[in-house]
Amino acid sequence: MATSESALLQQLHTFNEHELRRLLAEHLTSRKLGLTWERDAIAHDRALNANVVLPRLVPEYSHTPEGCTAHRNLVIEGDNFDSLRLLRSTHAGKVRVIYIDPPYNTGNKDWVYNDSYVGANDRWRHSQWLEFLYQRLTLARDLLSSDGVILVSINDENRARLELLMDEVFAGRRLGSLVWRTKDTGNDLTQRFSHVHEHVLVYANGGFSFNGRATDRSKFRNPDQDARGDWSPQPLTKAHSYIDRENTYYPIQDPDTGYWYPCDPNRVWAYASEAVIRRLCKGDEAAVHTALAALRSDTMEALIAKRLIYFPPCKPDEVMQFDTLADLHAAIAAGKGPMLPKKKTPLLRANLPDLDFWVGKPIAPGRPSRKEHWTAKPEAERLAPVSSWIAGLNEGQDDEDVELVLLRSARGGVATEEVKTVLGSKAFPYPKPMSLIKGLLSQATRPGDTVLDFFAGSGTTGQAVLELNAEDGGQRRFILCSSTEATAKEPDKNLCRDVCAERLRRVMAGYGGKPGYTLAQGGEFAYLRLDKIDGADVALDATAHHAATLLSMRNAALAPVECAQTAIQMIAKGADWLLVLCTHTTAEILQTLAQLPTEHGVARLVVVAPRPKAVALWLTERGIEAQALSLREVLTQGQGVTKARRAS
Ligand SMILES: C[S@@+](CC[C@H](N)C(=O)[O-])C[C@H]1O[C@@H](n2cnc3c(N)ncnc32)[C@H](O)[C@@H]1O
Repeated sequence: MATSESALLQQLHTFNEHELRRLLAEHLTSRKLGLTWERDAIAHDRALNANVVLPRLVPEYSHTPEGCTAHRNLVIEGDNFDSLRLLRSTHAGKVRVIYIDPPYNTGNKDWVYNDSYVGANDRWRHSQWLEFLYQRLTLARDLLSSDGVILVSINDENRARLELLMDEVFAGRRLGSLVWRTKDTGNDLTQRFSHVHEHVLVYANGGFSFNGRATDRSKFRNPDQDARGDWSPQPLTKAHSYIDRENTYYPIQDPDTGYWYPCDPNRVWAYASEAVIRRLCKGDEAAVHTALAALRSDTMEALIAKRLIYFPPCKPDEVMQFDTLADLHAAIAAGKGPMLPKKKTPLLRANLPDLDFWVGKPIAPGRPSRKEHWTAKPEAERLAPVSSWIAGLNEGQDDEDVELVLLRSARGGVATEEVKTVLGSKAFPYPKPMSLIKGLLSQATRPGDTVLDFFAGSGTTGQAVLELNAEDGGQRRFILCSSTEATAKEPDKNLCRDVCAERLRRVMAGYGGKPGYTLAQGGEFAYLRLDKIDGADVALDATAHHAATLLSMRNAALAPVECAQTAIQMIAKGADWLLVLCTHTTAEILQTLAQLPTEHGVARLVVVAPRPKAVALWLTERGIEAQALSLREVLTQGQGVTKARRAS
C-alpha cells in the first residue's frame, strides 16, 4: 500500500462517525464528470519554467530564394513542447488554424515523454499520452486567435479519450467531428472488425465559422422563361419510403400537359397534398382547416398553382399509357414500366397499393422538381460543410438531388506515395493525404491566415498551404514543428531537416515536372532550432541572433533571412514608430540611434537594449521621442508560468 494511502487511513481512524459521514457525502457530491489521468501538476509547471526557449536561425537549412528579404513561413526543429513555449511568447492569439495529427497512442514508440519513448507495455501509457497531449494542447490554446480553430486527427480507438481531453482544454468550444474513411478495403474476419475510419475533432473559438460555399449562380437558369427570372431545381422528395410516410405517397399531375408523375416508393414527396388531407378528414371541413393550418410549408397543389413545380418537357412517344391492369403488370414484370430516369429503379411495382389508378393515365418519363428563384435567395447565403463524414474524391459526385458541402479526401494509402514522389523513397510512415489536409484548410482558412501544425511529421500541412495559396492567390503562412526523432540508437536521425524541410524545399523548387512556388505563393521558409537557456543566464548567454529572431517573430510575424552582425538591427516599422534592437551601446551607437527617426520618417523610436533606462534618458535629452525596453525582459516575456486552466 502506498505510504500516502496508509497515512490517510490512519488519519481517518481519528474521525468520529459524523465526521466520516460528512466526508463521504462531500466526496460523493464533489465528483465531477470528465476524464481523470495521473498527472503531476508541479512537474508540469516546473517544465514550463525550467528555462527560456530562444529561436536560432539555421540559414543553411532554410529555403531563401533570391529576392526573399524575410521569412513568412517557419519550420521549427525540436520537441514541440519547447516549440509551443516559444510560440506562446511570439504568436499568442495570432494563429487562425491549428491542424495536428499526433501520435495515436498505439504503443508503437512514436512519441517521447520525459525524454524516453513510451511503448505498448508501459504501465502508465494512457495517462502519459494524455498528459503529453494535455501539456501541448494547453500551450496551443493560447496561440489561437479569437476566431481560431483546432482540428485534430485521431484513430477510433483513442477518439473518446482525446475528445474528453479536448473538452477539458477547450471547454465549451466543441464544434463537432468528421469521419474520414482511411481505406477502401476491409480485413478478413480473423481481425473481427475492419477498422477503416479515423476522426477529425473540431474545436473553435466563438468567432470561427467554416467558409462553407456560396450558392452557385451558374446553377440558376430559366428553361421555361419564368417571368420571375432564373431558378435552380431543388429536390421534391424526402428520404422516406411509402410505408413510412403513406400520406405523402401520391401521384401528381402537370396541369398544362395532363401528364401524370408517380411518386418514388423509396423517396416520397417532401410536401403534403391537400387532396390526401381531404380524403383522410372524410368531409370534416374543420379538421381539414386545422390540418392545413398546421403545415409548415405549402401543399403540393399550392406549389403547382404558384407554378413553383417544374415538369420537365418530354416527347409524346416517351409518355407511357397502359390500357389494362394486366398490361401494366406485364410491363412491370418485363422491367418496362415507369422508371427513375437515372437510377433506372422502377417507380411502379406489382406490390404497390392502388396500382389500378394508373390504368389509362398518361405517365411522363421525367421527374418534377421544386423551383428556387435566384431573387428569393440572398447571394451571401452560404452552405456550411456537413459534419460526420469526409467523402472519397469521387464519392456521390452524380447525386444531384442533394446540395451538400462535402469535404473530400483520398484514402490513407495515397499519402505514402505522395511523399515518395517528392523524396524518392518511403521516407515517412503514415503521412496524411494532401487532399485531406487541403480539404480541411480550404474550409477552415481565409487567404491571409497563419496555419500551425505542431506534429508536422513529413510536412504535408506545409505543402497543402502552398497548394491552396497557388489555387486562390492567398497569402497563408505555415508554422511547422517537427521532432528529429533522434534516439540513442540513431543519434544522427533528423526527421525535421531531412524529411519535413527537405520535402518542402523540393516542392518549392519544383519536382517531377511540377512547377515550384514563387515567393508570392509562399515559396520560402526559415529553419529554426531551439536553444534552452536558464532564466538567470539569459542576459549572458542569449545572443544578438536569438534576440533579433525572437523580436522579428513577435513583432513582425517574420523571421530574418540571415544572422546580422550589426549592433543596431531594424525589427519592425509601424505608421509612426520604428522598433530596433540594440545589443550594446557606445557613444557612436547612440548617435546612430538618434538619427533613425528622421532617416525612417517616424515620430517615435522603440529601442530594445540591455540598459534601457540609460538609452531612453540619453535620447529624450536630445529631444527624441523614445521608449526603451529591457532586452532581458523582452527575451523572457511570455515564457513564465500560466496557471493551468483545468476544470478539476
Ligand atoms: C502521425 S505523425 C504526423 C504525420 C503528418 N501529419 C504527415 O502528414 O506527415 C506524428 C509526428 O509527430 C512527431 N512527434 C511525436 N512527438 C513529438 C514531439 N514531442 N514533438 C514534435 N513532434 C513529435 C512524430 O515524430 C511524427 O512525425
